[in-house]
Amino acid sequence: MPTYHVTTFGCQMNEHDSERMKGMLESLGYDEVGDRVEADLILLNTCSIREKADSRLIAHLGHAKRLKSEDPSRIIGVGGCWAQSLKDEVFERFPFVDVAFGPGQVNRLADFLNSDQLTAQGYFEFEGFTGHLPSKRAREFQGWVQISVGCNSVCSYCIVPSTRGREVSRPPAELIGEVARLAEDGVKEVTLLGQNVNSYGRDLVASDKMTFAQLLAAIDRVAGIERIRYTSPHPKDMGEDVIMAHAELASLCEHIHLPLQSGSSQILKAMRRTYSRERYLDRVALIRQHLPDCAITTDIIVGFPGETDDDFDQTLEVVEEVGYDGAFTFLYSARRDTEAANFSNQVPQAVKADRMARLLTVVQRCADARAQRFVGQTLEVLVEGASRKDASWLRGRTRHNKVVNFSGLASPGQTVAVQIQSANHQSLVGEASLLAHASAL
Ligand code: SAH
Ligand code: SF4
Ligand code: F3S
Repeated sequence: MPTYHVTTFGCQMNEHDSERMKGMLESLGYDEVGDRVEADLILLNTCSIREKADSRLIAHLGHAKRLKSEDPSRIIGVGGCWAQSLKDEVFERFPFVDVAFGPGQVNRLADFLNSDQLTAQGYFEFEGFTGHLPSKRAREFQGWVQISVGCNSVCSYCIVPSTRGREVSRPPAELIGEVARLAEDGVKEVTLLGQNVNSYGRDLVASDKMTFAQLLAAIDRVAGIERIRYTSPHPKDMGEDVIMAHAELASLCEHIHLPLQSGSSQILKAMRRTYSRERYLDRVALIRQHLPDCAITTDIIVGFPGETDDDFDQTLEVVEEVGYDGAFTFLYSARRDTEAANFSNQVPQAVKADRMARLLTVVQRCADARAQRFVGQTLEVLVEGASRKDASWLRGRTRHNKVVNFSGLASPGQTVAVQIQSANHQSLVGEASLLAHASAL
């Protein structure tokens, strides 16, 4: 049997797409191997969101090139956003690549492998969902569900609209069917994926019309699904109906990831985010009003072109005011063919680095303070496997999306009650509750 190996870079959408690539390859008779060195087919599912992502990738491509020169019968494939953003240039710059395809063309990998064509092939149309393809899940009890592809926003820093195309929603009946099949197959937790999940459904034909909040309610009704997550919503589309869904739907988790990007209205305007600091804080106030205990996390970009000390201080103020449970923080990185890459007022690297250090201190202090509310509580934890720090401990996640390292006996995929003993900005520490075990017996 021919063998394959996939390396995944980037976001959860890429993880989803990689699971589909694997599912498709297995249906074609390929076997997965744990090490790239042993594979007949080497795939890289790429990301281009920041420059760092590009440079990491180049090193992996170098490795693939060496392996190909040792054994020229090997096939090297490059999928994902980086491949899409370069298109046929991939073959000029990396002539050892046999097949390249964008996120909308994953299905073409099968065509390529089935064809007698030996010359390099590139597939870059925005054509279809990967959600239709067979899947090989990384974890039996967790499933990604691609509810839409593409993005209609024009954030001036972002490469994604050009790599994933215009937004297209999948019909609700198809999604609910997919979730039901996942549940039958042992999935307890689904994560709904889209670049802007809460604009879901706007492009659907009248007979299929459904809002994101209605979709959440329909998925909540699927038997066997204990947890629903989604990423990412856009603050401009965060309606009260979605917030209320968190209060009303038993399986919708107590966590909202609401990307801020900047706390300065002026910078938000230059970013073309289409909301102001006030409007963002108003969304947070609505969340706190209906869901006082909900975890809120965010994405923040530091050093966007033109960001002054005052703009940055406003970001720090918003972080303090919201009191995030966690935040992903990024140094602004100029991306090819984006509007902001041509702005003349780029922020020097040293200033960016200094602001990042200050931001991290505040983010971590807030996350630490928020996490203390869990100490002494008994929380429902979905077990993922052995703890990364100490294999005799277990690791899992709470509904608030906090990682918990805990002592006790349980198998991956089980939901257990864990008494929380301590907390910091990153994770919680606890002990599987004996009471919960007794009641389970
Ligand atoms: N569609 C999602 C995710 C976009 S990418 C959303 O809009 O929320 C994930 C995060 O990467 C973004 O939220 C942003 O914070 C960051 N990001 C995107 N482009 C970037 C760039 N050019 N430089 C630095 N960070 C960037
Ligand atoms: Fe990029 Fe903005 Fe679209 Fe998110 S909403 S993918 S940041 S353009
Ligand atoms: Fe990267 Fe594309 Fe995701 S650029 S972050 S893999 S949408």
